Amino acid sequence: MGAYRIIGGRPLEGAVAIHGAKNSVLPILAATLVCGGQYTIDNCPEISDVETAFEILRSLGCTARREGARAFVDTGAAEEREIPEELMRKMRAAIIFLGALLARFGTARLSAPGGCVLGQRPIDLHILGLRLMGADCEYDGETLRCKGDRLRGCTVALPFPSVGATENLLLAALACEGETTICNAAREPEIGDLIGFLCACGAKIDGAGTSVLRVDGGKPLHGTKYTVMPDRMEAATYLAAAAATRGRLVLQGAEPAHLRAVTETLERGGCEIARRPGEIIVRCDRLTAVSPIITAPYDGFPTDAQAPVMAAMATAEGVSVFEETIFSDRMRHVPALRAMGARITATERHAVVTGVRGLHGAEVEATDLRGGAAMVIAALRAEGESRITKTEHMERGYASFVRSLRACGAQIEST
Ligand code: UD1
Repeated sequence: MGAYRIIGGRPLEGAVAIHGAKNSVLPILAATLVCGGQYTIDNCPEISDVETAFEILRSLGCTARREGARAFVDTGAAEEREIPEELMRKMRAAIIFLGALLARFGTARLSAPGGCVLGQRPIDLHILGLRLMGADCEYDGETLRCKGDRLRGCTVALPFPSVGATENLLLAALACEGETTICNAAREPEIGDLIGFLCACGAKIDGAGTSVLRVDGGKPLHGTKYTVMPDRMEAATYLAAAAATRGRLVLQGAEPAHLRAVTETLERGGCEIARRPGEIIVRCDRLTAVSPIITAPYDGFPTDAQAPVMAAMATAEGVSVFEETIFSDRMRHVPALRAMGARITATERHAVVTGVRGLHGAEVEATDLRGGAAMVIAALRAEGESRITKTEHMERGYASFVRSLRACGAQIEST
């Protein structure tokens, strides 16, 4: 079990290079399976979830390896249609291999995906869309079997713009005969990146960035070279860390347009933020509470930034109210923040944060990827020493986390 030892109380100052987006590269790696080809993926972050995606590809008969931030994948020899349960359990995004397997082989067998525990994470919307395409899906809550040798284009109206369901349906639609329309599709930038990758492979998809996507199925696809977009959640985490520690950071490679909801929130709290193409500069001398902060599908305030920004608001002047509308159990970081001296009362979906002057070090356990990042942020602000255990959660999604923070003056080490 990994742990971080942090001695807090210093403002973060310096430059951080933002890596490729976890939530883009994982569906892109799944999508390489749709047609047997050779792929070069640049800006591929060195995080353990990518290693899991490589392991899944290898378990299916593909080759996958990296040289620094460049990944090489060859899916030509794939033959397995079933993903081992222990790999499915490692991350939520493994579910995107469902659409890829179905598109490639017309059949897939997987167990329920794992990933962060954020409350109920059903896959009913994925199955709803695949059934409309003509796939025969059986799911008993543990094992999912799907068959669909002759998928056909259709119109799927998603009751909620699920990111994962939109990705799975995009991949399955590539194998459909005719046109598929996905209405109320997720508009997250990572969906646009997946579409960019698929179009580079020869797919014909219209509507990227909008909630209506049209896929012209059955086009011949081929391998390609593609560069993954920057990680807006990693950038949001550093923005929150700068605000919490009243620091100054330059986020190199961040895309300002993807982060509007987060940067505008922090600006309302008194941070000064400058945006340039491929760069965000944040400076925070004084932080006042912002309220309410309500998570929503893109381009609303991202659920993944809720915990990190809450850690910053723990020492803002005034009261902030957070409402989590996306996941039913995403306040699991609150007890750890309270152990560091934060004044927070929370229910499953709401938290009321009364800013305090200072936090103090504590020993806490990371609960999930972004919740763990929030604990790191609080510990960087806190006076004294903190120990955060179960840092495997952070290793799943933050490349060079400790190194980047140390380069900005943080006293943090992995133990
Ligand atoms: C993705 C991101 C995650 C982010 C989330 C919301 C990846 C690997 N993960 O997760 O970091 O927090 O988007 O932006 O990209 N739902 C259903 N039925 C379904 C599917 C989803 O009810 O079939 C519900 C979920 O339980 C949840 C909500 O819809 O309450 C959002 O889920 P979804 O958008 O699918 O998120 P993920 O793709 O799991």
